[in-house]
Amino acid sequence: MYHFSVMPLEVSNYLVNKLDGLYIDCTFGGGGHTSYLFEKFPSIKIIAFDWDEDSSNQFIKKNNEFNDRINFIRENFKNIKQALANINVYKVDGILADIGVSSKQFDDLARGFSFNSNVLDMRMDNRSQLTAKEIINEYSNRDLADIFYKYGQEYRSRQIADAICARRQRGMINTAVELKDVICSVKRQEGKINPATKVFQSLRIFVNKELSNLEVLLSDAPDLLSEHGRIVIISFHSLEDKIVKLNFKQNADNKIYKLLTKKVVTATSQEIKINPRSRSAKMRVCEKINA
Ligand SMILES: C[S@@+](CC[C@H](N)C(=O)[O-])C[C@H]1O[C@@H](n2cnc3c(N)ncnc32)[C@H](O)[C@@H]1O
Repeated sequence: MYHFSVMPLEVSNYLVNKLDGLYIDCTFGGGGHTSYLFEKFPSIKIIAFDWDEDSSNQFIKKNNEFNDRINFIRENFKNIKQALANINVYKVDGILADIGVSSKQFDDLARGFSFNSNVLDMRMDNRSQLTAKEIINEYSNRDLADIFYKYGQEYRSRQIADAICARRQRGMINTAVELKDVICSVKRQEGKINPATKVFQSLRIFVNKELSNLEVLLSDAPDLLSEHGRIVIISFHSLEDKIVKLNFKQNADNKIYKLLTKKVVTATSQEIKINPRSRSAKMRVCEKINA
C-alpha cells in the first residue's frame, strides 16, 4: 500500500465547487486523493504536483487509469505559480495540499525517515542537496539545538546537541539508528512515544524547508484561485496548522477568502480506527470571494 489517504470524503466535499472545474493536487503522493476525486467527479481535471521520484513513478503506473484528465508536474509546490504559467494556466477552481510525508516515504528504510533506517537522509526530493547527515555531522552545537527546539519543540535540545557533538569526536554519525541511540542516551522514553521523535521531526522539517514551502504556497493561492475556488490544507503538525490558521484568518479579514471551517476538521473515530495516522490530521478550508 503506497499511502492511506486522509479524510477523502471531507476533502472531496469541500474542494469541489464546480463540477467540470480544474483542480490542483499539490501533494500527489500515491494519488489516493486524486483517484477519489476523479471517481466522484467524472468531469473534473487535475494538475498534480509532487517533488518525490517515487511519487512520480507511481503517477506513471496509474496514468492509464486517469486518462487525459491529469497533468503531473514533478516540482516543489512552492513553485506552483511559475510551473502553472509554464503551461498557460493562471486560474484554477481549487487547491488541495495534504502536506508532510507519505507512508511510503516513511516506511522505506532507504529514505532515512524512520528510526530503524541505515541511512541519514530525509530528503523528499532526491534532487536537493541538503541531507540530515550533513546537518547532524557538520552543523554547530548551537545550530543543532536551535533546529531541534524551533522545529521539534524539543525541550532537551541543548543536551541532545551536546551529546551529538561529543559523539562526533569518535567518528561520523551515518545512520538514523546511530542518531536515535545518541538521543536515547540523553532522553528516556516517556510513555509510548520514542524519545527521538521530536528531533527526527525537526530534522525532516528543516531538510525539506517544509514551513517556508507552505508559506509560499499560501501566499500564491489567492492569485491562482478563481472566484468561489476553494483551498483545502491538511497538516499534521501544530507549527504548520498555525501558519494555515493565521493565513486564512488574515485573508478572511481582508475579504479575500470566506472561512468555510470555523473550527479545524479532524478525522472521525471510524477513520482513526482504520488509519491511525489520520489522528493528527487537521484540515482547514477557505473559499475565494474576491476574484
Ligand atoms: C501525505 S503525502 C500525500 C498523499 C496523497 N494525498 C495521497 O492521497 O496519496 C504528502 C506528499 O507530498 C509531497 N510533498 C511534500 N512537500 C512537498 C512540496 N513542497 N512540493 C511537492 N510535493 C511535496 C511528498 O513528497 C508526499 O508524496
